[in-house]
Amino acid sequence: MKNIRDKTKAVRAGQMRTAEAEHSDPIFATSSFVFDSAEHAAQMFSEAKSGNIYSRFTNPTTRAFEKRLASLEDAQFCSGTASGMSAILTLCMCVLKSGDQIAASRGLFGSTVSLFDNILRRFEIETRYYSPAELASGQISADTRMIFIETPSNPLCEIIDITRLAQVTKGLNDCLLVVDNCACTPVLQQPLALGADVVIHSSTKFLDGQGRAVGGAVVTNDADLAKAVVGFLRTAGPSMSPFNAWIFHKGLETLFVRMKECCSNANTIAHWLTDQSLVEKVHYPGLKSHPDHELATRQQRDFGALLSFEVKGGQSAAWKVIDSVQIFSVTANLGDAKSTITHPTSTTHARVSASDRKRMAIRDGLIRISVGLEDVHDLIEDLECGLNSI
Ligand SMILES: Cc1ncc(COP(=O)(O)O)c(C=O)c1O
Repeated sequence: MKNIRDKTKAVRAGQMRTAEAEHSDPIFATSSFVFDSAEHAAQMFSEAKSGNIYSRFTNPTTRAFEKRLASLEDAQFCSGTASGMSAILTLCMCVLKSGDQIAASRGLFGSTVSLFDNILRRFEIETRYYSPAELASGQISADTRMIFIETPSNPLCEIIDITRLAQVTKGLNDCLLVVDNCACTPVLQQPLALGADVVIHSSTKFLDGQGRAVGGAVVTNDADLAKAVVGFLRTAGPSMSPFNAWIFHKGLETLFVRMKECCSNANTIAHWLTDQSLVEKVHYPGLKSHPDHELATRQQRDFGALLSFEVKGGQSAAWKVIDSVQIFSVTANLGDAKSTITHPTSTTHARVSASDRKRMAIRDGLIRISVGLEDVHDLIEDLECGLNSI
């Protein structure tokens, strides 16, 4: 299928059909595959012949999802992983060694910060954190081996200029630019086309879109890196399950319509929040007042479904809002058809030290919402009820 457009890719890329002529893609729920003979098995294991051996290595359903996501990111290679975090770990294991440095944007998901600071540091891989302005000005240590960013960041929706950072990365020796594209998905932003080397996904989020399964992906055009990722997954085993791959593969079919509706709802809510007297600040790149509004307009096709806002009265006020809403689900997940609400300081970023949270500008009164597919008027009434409880 050459030259098909993105919406068609979301529905058709990676499609497969067995001899049973099924219309919906099948799930290959099998841990291993059989060989024609002992000699055939030996040829497969020695890689003289290619094919399925064992689902930790390859599985047709996982491959179908990988092909569809690669096609949407305009990439040549994609490997599904057991979670978004294992996608990040897999990449780090393939690229970094003891003594290497990571330069990361300061607004990273809490578990990514924990992975870098608490786990990789034990293997003498150091991470330094930078503001978007510091990254753009290229004030990065010369021996950085990987630049890792999230844009928009979670939960503050800071936007980083990927094209500018790709130029900075090229000026460093042997350094990769990695973008966690979980919040935008390829519908809103294709980082590889903007100069990034690797895209990370938590397919748990918008790619699934209904909060059903945990998974992730590493996406790249770098053939050597892609080979290393496949080798790591095959040996170390944080591979995607075929059942989860089937869920994500089907989720991608509706990604464009879901993102459009969720972004529209989020935009309406963000504007409404700016008029509320108990709300001190709204972080949403679709607002003209957002410091990165212009960059977001240039870099993204829409402003996303994730936003956060700060209420007057700190943590106790934020908790009151969260405890009073009835439609929003109080859960840390995002990218679901069901809108979700969470208090980053005490959940997603609780393991980040108070000083690091201060550095990341995540305050106690901050509430993050991921806007879903409910009627936006109901969502606004629900938030109004929450704010009235303060
Ligand atoms: C931006 C971002 N990246 C990565 C992850 C990790 O994904 P997973 O929960 O699938 O491991 C998350 C999870 O919330 C996230 O928000």
